[in-house]
Amino acid sequence: MTEKNSVRVADYPIHDLFLKRSSTRYFSEESMSKEALLTLLEAGRWAASAYNNQPWVFIYVLRNSPNWKKYLELLFPSNRQWAEKAAALVFVASRKQAPEGKEVILLEHYSHSFDTGMATAHIMLQAANDGWSAHPMIGFDMHGLREITGIPKNYRMEIALAIGRPLNPSDIANNEEKPSLRLPLSEVAFEEKFEEKE
Ligand SMILES: Cc1cc2nc3c(=O)[nH]c(=O)nc-3n(C[C@H](O)[C@H](O)[C@H](O)COP(=O)(O)O)c2cc1C
Repeated sequence: MTEKNSVRVADYPIHDLFLKRSSTRYFSEESMSKEALLTLLEAGRWAASAYNNQPWVFIYVLRNSPNWKKYLELLFPSNRQWAEKAAALVFVASRKQAPEGKEVILLEHYSHSFDTGMATAHIMLQAANDGWSAHPMIGFDMHGLREITGIPKNYRMEIALAIGRPLNPSDIANNEEKPSLRLPLSEVAFEEKFEEKE
């Protein structure tokens, strides 16, 4: 892992935002305006996608909605226990087929999930830029979400994001949250030939 006293350090000069973004489990209960949330989704909208097919959809709910609890309860308990303080939840799905009339190489649009992951990363980085944290979660009831939202079967459920204002580490009692570190670049980037790592 690349670490210096558990502090995230980049070995090459990247934008601070990449190190600043993290998936906190400690949110303040600050609420978020719809405009602030739509600003994050706007960043997602500008992601690259194969053939510019833009296969993503974002279903959002703000904590001040009377339906908030219904959506929160879709999260697995291990996620719900910290995400209940988030200001918004965003559920991300991707359309499996290209839009009608568009040229595609494959019937099942090969990169719909990949494209949507790119859009999700945009949202997460914009959140970090704006002083929010967007924590991705795979642990939620996807069938339940389909029922509540009417997301059709030709869409793949991808991820849920809990978005809120992260607490300052000094304001977290018994803070056990350590910044997550990363494998060295040399273990994942190879010049010319793949190298098997043990
Ligand atoms: C596809 C995906 C699914 C994840 N699912 C969960 C989850 O259900 N619960 C959770 O607490 N974190 C979840 N995470 C967050 C990861 O644990 C986190 O991104 C990783 O440990 C790196 O930490 P960082 O995001 O703070 O850099 C998920 C992340 C991704 C990308």
